[in-house]
Amino acid sequence: MTGDLSAHPTVVVDTLRATTTIVAILANGGEGVLPVAEMEQALAMRARFPEALVGGERNNRKPKGFDAGNSPREFPPERVRGRRVILTTTNGTQAIARCQSAPWLAAGALVNATAVGLALWEQGGDALVVCAGGRGYPALEDVLAAGAVVELWPRAAWGDGARIAAAVWHQARDRLLDTVREAVHARELETMHLVEDVIWAAQKDYCPVVPIRRRDGWFQLG
Ligand code: MLT
Repeated sequence: MTGDLSAHPTVVVDTLRATTTIVAILANGGEGVLPVAEMEQALAMRARFPEALVGGERNNRKPKGFDAGNSPREFPPERVRGRRVILTTTNGTQAIARCQSAPWLAAGALVNATAVGLALWEQGGDALVVCAGGRGYPALEDVLAAGAVVELWPRAAWGDGARIAAAVWHQARDRLLDTVREAVHARELETMHLVEDVIWAAQKDYCPVVPIRRRDGWFQLG
């Protein structure tokens, strides 16, 4: 991905795991989440917000000096209630950073697909669902979530990308967890003993909240 991706209302999807984790943090009472592209930015922001947790991953692991990794299970209510979290990840927060021009930007995943899909529809006009993918390749779990995001929209509103995502979603919805577990990144996480994160992320509509980017870059619940 290069350049600014969107000048339209946008939902960024990184099912495994960045946007799922953003949803989890805010659903669990986090005060705000600041996604940043680079680890140095994350640590610099901690200097400005010393009470914030710094979370994220490189190669799926918690970077040295960080408070938490990128697992939704690392941010339970007792840890995040009333706190800010600064997050940097390999693909998801990069995709968010490349949507600077979007006039309305939300974080989407399977766990909030219906809520975020309806919120995006309410923006009216052209809209975009950006799938973060992995290392420049499409990711099955992101296409699935994109299909779940657009499924309640009238078919006439779908572009070809939405049709492809909806077709993949409809084929997989009745065996969602099995399908997500077949994805390349899910299998990678499983080899790192992170299968619980994959199971967590595959719970459709488990957290019906809509994290929205404010003007200052922090995501809060809409
Ligand atoms: C990413 O942004 O690349 C992902 O969230 C990676 C992960 O932590 O699973």
